[in-house]
Amino acid sequence: MSKQKETMDSRELGLVLGQQLLGVDDMHYGMWDDDLELKFANIATAQQRYTDMLIADMPDPGQGEVRVFDIGCGTGHILGQLLDHGFKADGLVPAPGFAKLVNQRLDERPGKEAKLFTIPFEEFPVDEFENTYDVALFSESFQYIPVEASFPILEKIVKPGGTIIICDFFRTEHAGDGGAGDGSFGGGHDWKTFQQQMSDSPFELVSDEDITPKMSPNLELVNNFLMNTLSPAGQTIGRYLRLNYPKTSKVVSWLFRKKFARLKFKYFSGLRSKETFERYKTYHHIVLRNPAN
Ligand SMILES: C[S@@+](CC[C@H](N)C(=O)[O-])C[C@H]1O[C@@H](n2cnc3c(N)ncnc32)[C@H](O)[C@@H]1O
Repeated sequence: MSKQKETMDSRELGLVLGQQLLGVDDMHYGMWDDDLELKFANIATAQQRYTDMLIADMPDPGQGEVRVFDIGCGTGHILGQLLDHGFKADGLVPAPGFAKLVNQRLDERPGKEAKLFTIPFEEFPVDEFENTYDVALFSESFQYIPVEASFPILEKIVKPGGTIIICDFFRTEHAGDGGAGDGSFGGGHDWKTFQQQMSDSPFELVSDEDITPKMSPNLELVNNFLMNTLSPAGQTIGRYLRLNYPKTSKVVSWLFRKKFARLKFKYFSGLRSKETFERYKTYHHIVLRNPAN
């Protein structure tokens, strides 16, 4: 049998680099409450507050088995915490690089039974897992999956009366208006369309909180890091290459000119800011219930 070639798309590259450069275990923005000073040293606290908020949405595992499915579980940091809190939890992550990290976390918890699916959620084997989960969790992963695919799967695998938690950002009506910073952030389902999809679905809306102002400070922090640390470092490396390898540098710059221009606009224009995020994205903490039969 031929071995499948491991690949990585640009969105996954962005996620991995973000996680590595910022030195964090989680890949979500974190909750920046008013009392939390906006500085790198507080990222882990902001992320923990967000994770605690998600766990508070779930039934108490002390009252009987609660089986959670962490869909798009990233490095498995939340999954590990769920297991530590006494939940029975499975994870799913299609990216092989992340799957390795998740498996390491699971290996650190030998007594815990947890499955890790390494496929896109769209390919989940629904028939084998009908009415299995008390909770389905999407922590900043919902945007990667077409709603037309995720909702019918959830309807089947979440138990009647079970909970679906979606914490993610969506595109606002301003997307595509050509304003400064428009297009500098990718991702997110269209918010209006999604609201319609929710109301057309069989799920009951338990709560929907717009938490954009608590999430967007993260962008200010990351933008400062990109502009004040990464950009000067990149310029120094570029200068070194131009001085020492002028011919190769010229050819590479020309060959990748479009990619470099896109990268510059997305990450090093200073437009990847809190203000841009608040105009083009709306971040929601949504709890849905699969109706009891
Ligand atoms: C921003 S990260 C969030 C990770 C984690 N849930 C957290 O909060 O730290 C998005 C995750 O979605 C995953 N993902 C991307 N496409 C997916 C798909 N089609 N099905 C399931 N997960 C997907 C990525 O591999 C990544 O782990």
